Amino acid sequence: MNFEEIKDYWENRASEDSSAQSTTQDFYLREIEFNVLAQNIEKYSPNNVADIGCGDGRTTVRLARKCPDISFKGFDYSTSMIKNTKAVLDSSDIINTLFEVYDVLEGMSGLFDLIYTTRCLINLPSWELQKIAISNIHNALIGDGVYLMIENFIEGQSNFNEVRKKFGLSEIPIREHNHFFERERLLGYIDDLFDLQSEVNISSTYYLASRVIYSKICDEAGIIPDYFDDHHRFAVGLPFCGEYGPVRLLILKKK
Ligand SMILES: C[S@@+](CC[C@H](N)C(=O)[O-])C[C@H]1O[C@@H](n2cnc3c(N)ncnc32)[C@H](O)[C@@H]1O
Repeated sequence: MNFEEIKDYWENRASEDSSAQSTTQDFYLREIEFNVLAQNIEKYSPNNVADIGCGDGRTTVRLARKCPDISFKGFDYSTSMIKNTKAVLDSSDIINTLFEVYDVLEGMSGLFDLIYTTRCLINLPSWELQKIAISNIHNALIGDGVYLMIENFIEGQSNFNEVRKKFGLSEIPIREHNHFFERERLLGYIDDLFDLQSEVNISSTYYLASRVIYSKICDEAGIIPDYFDDHHRFAVGLPFCGEYGPVRLLILKKK
């Protein structure tokens, strides 16, 4: 899919679905993402935070409630997504969050102490566009600002598909609106812009539990996997081990 088709995909998804699954079916994966974001935002204690590709703003608003002394700003290029943030915001009691329509490929006005993305940049259809987005994020950070990058990588995707194969399960393909990162290529590019503080695969144990063990149980029972099944719910609490899932967290400090 090209850039416009992907943008239409998100516009349509937001206008058809305002539930907690409008940005991903995988409800519990978002719990993991929320937990690592909350932990790191508390650790770096920034004055202001930008959530780029915030979707319906559910994660932004939860974080803002947890950190009432920090100003949050959520950005998304989909006007329908930003429209949906209004309902999320109205049903909350917080006053430290704003939302704005914004395309990460445009230069950003304003400076932030900390910026995060959760599965946003994988919606840019080429590495060239992803590099522009990363450079714009770099420019929108203060001197030693922090970028928490939660995005999908092809290496972890291939690894869990190899395990699925051993269990006699079919490969899960990358969705057509997604363009996953290649780790080595990314690290080569960001070397001039950021210091890599740490990185961890936050989806490995979760994917082994949900996409291998639970998938095999469903396969043998002839039932369709349910994203709300207890295997997903309990897998949120497992420690992060291995490289068997696509989603990684990279903690990047501006150079
Ligand atoms: C997979 S959803 C994730 C949403 C949210 N971060 C979450 O965790 O629920 C990706 C989001 O990125 C947004 N997005 C994709 N490309 C973008 C761009 N170029 N600029 C701003 N937002 C973008 C989409 O509209 C969508 O809401």
